Amino acid sequence: MNKNSSPIINLEKITFGYPGGPTVIDKLDMKFYQGDQTGLIAPNGSGKTTLFHIIMGLIKPSDGKMEIFGKPAIKEEEFSNIRGKIGLLFQDADDQLFCPTVLEDVAFGPLNMGKSKEEAIDISRKTLDSLGLAGFEDRITYKLSGGEKRLVSLATLLSMKPEILLLDEPLTGLDTETRLKLIDILPNLDLSYILISHEIDFLTATTKQIYTMKDGKILLDDQSYIHKHEHVHQFGRIPHKHN
Ligand SMILES: Nc1ncnc2c1ncn2[C@@H]1O[C@H](COP(=O)(O)OP(=O)(O)O)[C@@H](O)[C@H]1O
Ligand SMILES: [Mg+2]
Repeated sequence: MNKNSSPIINLEKITFGYPGGPTVIDKLDMKFYQGDQTGLIAPNGSGKTTLFHIIMGLIKPSDGKMEIFGKPAIKEEEFSNIRGKIGLLFQDADDQLFCPTVLEDVAFGPLNMGKSKEEAIDISRKTLDSLGLAGFEDRITYKLSGGEKRLVSLATLLSMKPEILLLDEPLTGLDTETRLKLIDILPNLDLSYILISHEIDFLTATTKQIYTMKDGKILLDDQSYIHKHEHVHQFGRIPHKHN
């Protein structure tokens, strides 16, 4: 976080409610800086996904000011430029993948950005490789497991070399091994990101500050609270340690 520079996402008093519904985002202020790796944890229905969709221009706030990469973000043409630089991992992987094969899905972004077919394939193979997905090129996307779809979705974003990643509950459907892989990969991507997750251990390992949302606003809760853990497993009566 470099507070001396200007924020790359700057939201001021942003307000939004879905048509006919209550206010979901209420005069929300948020400043996000280059290099920030931020976690967002809040109960279901708090407006986390809505906030991501506002940043991407998929839905429009009814009030407030929004600047992204130092420029006003209001009109559609401003957002089409922004969407090339911010990768949004959707909460549902099926919203992200639409090509028949993995390679086509991962190459779609680079091709769309004007890369040649050879370049796009090269970038896609390297990206898949970096996520441990070498050999997945010709797999049929819709037949992948939930966890594999999540990782391929991440590959479709990384192949576009975004400046910011917005990851909406990336752990959904991932097994323990793949979760550990993400913990390894994310902080080393040299990317700014905001990560929505319900798993505090994951956020602690992958982000530098963790925010929550309440009453349509973003809050920083940086205090530590002593709390009890309860868990069960076999042979629990025998004195033992957990790491
Ligand atoms: N497309 C939609 N139309 C109407 N209401 C919606 C829509 N999407 C979300 N909501 C409502 O907005 C609130 C915030 O939802 P959401 O941003 O998905 O929360 P979160 O991601 O924190 O679980 C919820 O009350 C939800 O029911
Ligand atoms: Mg959500």
